[in-house]
Amino acid sequence: MSYFVLVTLHLLAAIAFAGTVFFEVLILESLRAPLGRDAMRAVESAVGRRARRVMPFVIAILYAAGIAMAWQYREHLAHPFGSSFATLLTIKIVLALSVFAHFVTAVTLGARGRLTSRRSRRIHVSVFCHVALIVVLAKAMFYVNW
Ligand code: HEM
Repeated sequence: MSYFVLVTLHLLAAIAFAGTVFFEVLILESLRAPLGRDAMRAVESAVGRRARRVMPFVIAILYAAGIAMAWQYREHLAHPFGSSFATLLTIKIVLALSVFAHFVTAVTLGARGRLTSRRSRRIHVSVFCHVALIVVLAKAMFYVNW
């Protein structure tokens, strides 16, 4: 698969993923007070159900394309402190792995019925911060040099 296709798929999946997290943290959370507890619970469960259907595909494309692209930078990644590009890409990948760990944690807690709304909110805010940093690093690695 050409690099152009990989980077385009990666970027589209990143937009879908980051957009969903942005919506959940900055839009959905602000509806808690005006909607009230019962309506909010219904909205959260409907949004959650839809996200559980769509997000596994988005995440699979995001990570598969990312790994395929990272393979082409393997010589940089073998020396994470060899250049500013290698360092920033390494940090970006570590953060992306941490996002994946958050996803697995949420799914595991959900399956065990232990994903309280407090835990879910914390996971969302943490993923939101990770994703914002990942996007900044994804661009900085091409423009910031030391
Ligand atoms: C939460 C997960 C991730 C997000 C939100 C994300 C986001 C992004 C974004 C926005 C770009 C810039 C694309 C562009 O403007 O052209 C990018 C580039 C890149 N990402 Fe990711 N990424 C994620 C996971 C990963 C993973 C897991 C890997 C590899 C293991 C990876 C490897 C790369 C590489 C190598 C590039 C550079 C592409 C280039 O040559 O332009 N990413 N990523």
